[in-house]
Amino acid sequence: MKKRILTGDRPTGKLHLGHYVGSVANRVKLQHKYETFILIADVQALTTNFEHPENLTQYVRDVAIDNLACGLDPEAATICVQSMIPEIAELTVYFSMFTSVASLKRNPTIKAEAKQYGYGENIMYGFLGYPVSQAADITSFRANLVPVGEDQVPVLEQTREIVRKFNSLYEPVLIEPKALVSKVSRLVGTDGAAKMSKSIGNVIELADLPEVLEQKVMKMFTDPGKIYKGDKGHPDKCPVYSYQVAFSTESELDQGMIGRRLESLPDSESGGELKQIRESCLSGKLGCVECKKNLAGTLNRFLSPIRERRKDFEKKQKDVDEILIEGTKKARIETKKTVQLVRNAMKIEYFRG
Ligand code: TRP
Repeated sequence: MKKRILTGDRPTGKLHLGHYVGSVANRVKLQHKYETFILIADVQALTTNFEHPENLTQYVRDVAIDNLACGLDPEAATICVQSMIPEIAELTVYFSMFTSVASLKRNPTIKAEAKQYGYGENIMYGFLGYPVSQAADITSFRANLVPVGEDQVPVLEQTREIVRKFNSLYEPVLIEPKALVSKVSRLVGTDGAAKMSKSIGNVIELADLPEVLEQKVMKMFTDPGKIYKGDKGHPDKCPVYSYQVAFSTESELDQGMIGRRLESLPDSESGGELKQIRESCLSGKLGCVECKKNLAGTLNRFLSPIRERRKDFEKKQKDVDEILIEGTKKARIETKKTVQLVRNAMKIEYFRG
C-alpha cells in the first residue's frame, strides 16, 4: 500500500514562489508515489481573516487553481476544503484538552508569526491554537509524510507530540507523521526578510505578469556590501543569488518544475550557469542590474507554463469547483474513519456495540 501525504495551504491570496519552493514542488513531484491529499486550510486562514471571511471564496479558488497550474493532477492527488470536513474540527477539540497553552506559546513558528502580526498579549485563542488544528488536519488523514516549508517544522513537531500524547493516553491509533522539508527549504522575501509573506508585501506570486515580476526583481535587495558595479560581491549574502540557486537548472527543485526542462537551455549549455554567476559576482565582473535581469528571465521562463495553465483553469471555474467538491467527499471517507478510531480509542463511542 502507498504511504500517504497530507499537506496544505492557508488560502490568504494567490500562492507565491515561497510556497512553490517550500512545499508545492515536492507535492507535485511525489503525487504519484504517495497517496496525496492537499488541504485548502480555510479555517486556518480565518485566524488572520476573521474580519473579512467573504474574501475566502476567491482565495480558496486561487489556491486550488495555483496547485493545479503547478502540475497537481486531480486524478492522482485529492484537493479538499478544510471547513467542509467537520471531522477535523472534532479532532481539534479533543486534542485541545491535553495541549497546554504554554507549549503553544513556546512554539517558535507561533512566536515568530505573532511577532510579525504584532499580537502581543492580545493574541487570539484560534491563532495560538492553530498547531492543534493543524495536528487534526494531518492526523485525520492518517498521513505519513507532510511536505512543508522550513518555517512550519516546529508546527509539525507539535503534531508529533500531540500524536504521542494521544497514543499513550488512549490507544495507539494515530500515525506520527514526518515533515518533508525541501533541500531549497526557504526563499527569502524580495526585501531580504527571512520569509516571503503576503502580509509583509515581499512576495512574487506565481500568477504575477512578466512585467510585474521584472519590476519586483529589479527592486530586490542585493548584497549590502556591493555598492558599485565593479565591487566584489558576496553571493552567499545576496537574496538575488539565493533565488538564482533555487531556480537554476542545477536546483534540487528542478525535477518538480513543470516546463522547466523544456523551456530552459539544453543541459550542456546550462550546466555551470550558476557557477558562472557566482564567480563573476565574486570577482566583481557581474553587476547587480545584469544579474537581476538574468534572474527575471529565469523566473519568467519558469512561470510561463504555469501562467498558461492558470489561465485555462480560470476559464473552467465550474470544473475547478467540481474538483474541490469531489475531493472533499473523497477526503471525508478517510477522516470519518479516523474519527471512529479516535472515539473508540477514547471510549466515548457510547451507543455502539
Ligand atoms: N500552516 C501551513 C502554512 O502556513 C498550512 C497548513 C494548514 C498545513 N494545514 C496544514 C501544512 C497541514 C501542512 C499540513 O503553510
